[in-house]
Amino acid sequence: MRDAYIVSAVRTPGCRRGKGALAQTRPEKLIVQAINAAIEKAGIDKGAVDDFMLGCAFPEAEQGLNLGRIAVQIARFPDSVTGATVNRFCASGLEAIAQSAMRVMAGWSEVCMAGGLESMSTVPMGGNLPRPLPDWAKEQPDVYISMGITAENVANRYKISRQMQDEFAYHSQMKAADAQKNKLFTEILSTVADRFVEKPDGNIVRETFVQDFDDGVRADTTIEGLGKLKPAFAANGSVTAGNASQTTDGAAACIIMSEAALSKYGVKPLAKLIAYTTAGCKADEMGVGPAYAIPKLLKLTGKNINDIGLFEINEAFASQAIYCAQQLGIGDKKEWAIDSQSKRINITGGAIALGHPLGCTGSKLAATLIANMRRKGVKYGVESMCIGGGMGAAALFELCE
Ligand SMILES: CC(C)(COP(=O)(O)OP(=O)(O)OC[C@H]1O[C@@H](n2cnc3c(N)ncnc32)[C@H](O)[C@@H]1OP(=O)(O)O)[C@@H](O)C(=O)NCCC(=O)NCCS
Repeated sequence: MRDAYIVSAVRTPGCRRGKGALAQTRPEKLIVQAINAAIEKAGIDKGAVDDFMLGCAFPEAEQGLNLGRIAVQIARFPDSVTGATVNRFCASGLEAIAQSAMRVMAGWSEVCMAGGLESMSTVPMGGNLPRPLPDWAKEQPDVYISMGITAENVANRYKISRQMQDEFAYHSQMKAADAQKNKLFTEILSTVADRFVEKPDGNIVRETFVQDFDDGVRADTTIEGLGKLKPAFAANGSVTAGNASQTTDGAAACIIMSEAALSKYGVKPLAKLIAYTTAGCKADEMGVGPAYAIPKLLKLTGKNINDIGLFEINEAFASQAIYCAQQLGIGDKKEWAIDSQSKRINITGGAIALGHPLGCTGSKLAATLIANMRRKGVKYGVESMCIGGGMGAAALFELCE
């Protein structure tokens, strides 16, 4: 099989659903800016791209009608560039990268584009009109339950205390705030956003502005403050707005090429996608997914957990992120605390601070992971996340010198 090289990887900022900077911007505008920036960074013509695979967790309404194809048309790619939309919930953006890379690896394409998108302000989590199958919902309601309840189940079953969750959340916020302060998010593209403003004469006009930072980061977070928040999903629960991922708007994209295309276009690669896998688990504790997917990935690639220099493990909830790290043998605080010299997990913060724009997350985390691998000179990086319905996904990236 051939190698698949990632030559550019960018993301918009992640901004808070409803209250954040991207809330009034149509999702199409977000993904179009991401793919245009990915192409520009790669330094190739739009016509060189064979296909665009877009990950989206709720591909309906404004995000529907096969936005994968519509986006390349809005972005004025030639008609020859095809597009599709893929849904694996929170892994959609990574699934898109994997499917595009596999196409290059198989020799079916020379250049592909992959990305992820979710405007949670525009299409709510669960979709506009959820219609579970009634008989199945009675027999097996777990595939339809709230993600917050699955996080409570993980906390209760595996004894992940409120205190542990809040401490992990605090460190996520501190790492993200520190990374913002030190301008480490080099993968962020300054994004043109819309807002609707009422003028003194009563007219509502659309204004544009540029957003270039993740607006959910709370640098003033304290463990005491987190401890005062009420449970968000269960009366006596431990999962709160402070130790859960934020609901977020965002888009991300990358360009993937064969070795022949690297030579043809004179492009230098950033990283290689070595392998991607998925693993199933119980739906009512879907957060444990990475604890199955990462070992499966390591076995597949003949790697050991200590071969991996950096991890991006999506913080859907602190409870599941902690449990997965524990199961992987990397649960110790030294692996994720801001003040640890040997931290490997989510070193610039995770979704608790930076947000989790569902279908975008897989692509967004790849862009962040690759940026961090390059900055730190780390050879192997793993990205992983849990997935609603009871799954985990994981991918291994190798740095290109
Ligand atoms: C938990 C959840 C319901 C909270 O939603 P929300 O109420 O809109 O959350 P917000 O981020 O607006 O926070 C609410 C309040 O909590 C408090 N808060 C949140 N984070 C805090 C922190 N780090 N420190 C102190 N207070 C905090 C604030 O008072 C905040 O209000 P403010 O924004 O007006 O200051 C929502 O984030 C959620 O559903 N998350 C999980 C998403 C999910 O399931 N994704 C899929 C995973 S598989």
